[in-house]
Amino acid sequence: MAGSGHDAALAAAAAAARAWLDGLPDRPVAPAADARAMLAAFSEPVPEEGADPADVVADLVRRAEPGLMATGSGRFHGWVIGGALPAAIGADWLVSAWDQNSAMSEPFPATTMIEQVAAGWVLDLLDLPREASVGFVTGGQMANTACLAAARNHVLAAHGWDVEEAGLQGAPRVHVIVGGQRHDAIDASLRALGLGASTAVVVPADDAGRTRPEAVAAAAAGVRGPTIVCLQVGNVNGGAVDAAGAIADAVRREDLWVHVDGAFGLWARAAPAYRHLVDGVERADSWATDAHKWLNTPYDCGMAICAHPGAHRRAMGMRADYLPQGDDAGLRDPVDYNPELSRRARSVPVWAALCQLGRRGLAELVERCCRMAERFAAALSEADGVEVLGQGLNQVVVRFLDPAGRDDDAHSRAVVARTQAEGTCYPSGTVWRGASCMRISVSGWRTGPEDVDRSVAAILAAHRGS
Ligand SMILES: Cc1ncc(COP(=O)(O)O)c(C=O)c1O
Repeated sequence: MAGSGHDAALAAAAAAARAWLDGLPDRPVAPAADARAMLAAFSEPVPEEGADPADVVADLVRRAEPGLMATGSGRFHGWVIGGALPAAIGADWLVSAWDQNSAMSEPFPATTMIEQVAAGWVLDLLDLPREASVGFVTGGQMANTACLAAARNHVLAAHGWDVEEAGLQGAPRVHVIVGGQRHDAIDASLRALGLGASTAVVVPADDAGRTRPEAVAAAAAGVRGPTIVCLQVGNVNGGAVDAAGAIADAVRREDLWVHVDGAFGLWARAAPAYRHLVDGVERADSWATDAHKWLNTPYDCGMAICAHPGAHRRAMGMRADYLPQGDDAGLRDPVDYNPELSRRARSVPVWAALCQLGRRGLAELVERCCRMAERFAAALSEADGVEVLGQGLNQVVVRFLDPAGRDDDAHSRAVVARTQAEGTCYPSGTVWRGASCMRISVSGWRTGPEDVDRSVAAILAAHRGS
């Protein structure tokens, strides 16, 4: 192999990363090249001979750059994607350089104990039960799956059924109740866990996207036996928050588990000005959330949090004779709380992000994002032919009326596409209550009032066709 040193490769990566990050305020947000162009840029036979590591990195940068989305820009507003904080990026680089298999605490004490501390900090900041268990997983999808696996264990165990040993064949039926505006991640988790997505009882949401509490209570009262209720804190479109505490109080039973998908919205618990919106959420049985959204760590990092650590461990843990096991004196093995064995130390950037922000900085980040979303909603709703259909937390849903009076759906989709192509900012599209809309998410630490004002001007120009 040509070259084995890391100095030049890391220097090339650092220079490219610095250039990328420095360029974020000025570059167009959308990528210049599409997926076909990127496939063409990388399509070639397996190289027969190796190459110098620094040349590999330089070649990677040259080919990939045109196809990169500026997710760290203050004017990136697509989906729910936060930027990455500097300390979290630096920590993430070290996670790769250190290359610790962070499944077991005995052989890999540094990263696994950082994870244990980060888990405690997250429970403190989100004000969830301090004895809850935390699994650091790849993202919201896996966090929901891990929590619902623990839920499945718990509600079946209440009926004397050991689902890990006996599986689901012949098990008592598990009733699942979900909200009408749930994220599709819940359905994917239910499918993966053998609970069935289309057999769930769907409870309607109100116009804002909140699951109707009295309808959940009625649905729960209507079923006997193991039951899982899935609620949401932060709808992916309009940011709506279910009344999770009141619902949990109303449906509480030994064989019923309340799960909350709080992929981004749970972080409002760390922001005093918005905390009242998410009070009571702590009375649920499990919570799925992400660090790579509102905490602004790089991908990938989510957290599965359970108020019943035993159920969590039974659903996720694994043991093998060749794997060392930590002692039981409160030192946790990450392998017990997530579906993977070998894994990167994805909690280290969480620790670093929390050190950079502190409790106060985290509150400011969340509050600023919410205020910027409110600024978007206020400015857009003043414009002719623009309707703000929903605004909650850091999310905004907007509809554009066709000035020619023909087709508002087609016009709204065109405004999204034109805005993305123009490059000043990048909102994304959705369908909300049957209507095509633009959705705007403010999840990044860089977004300030000037970014919002420039984005609003670009969106309105796309709406007016100018
Ligand atoms: C409410 C909600 N749940 C789950 C997810 C899935 O999270 P991830 O993309 O991190 O897997 C998202 C993503 O936006 C979300 O908004």
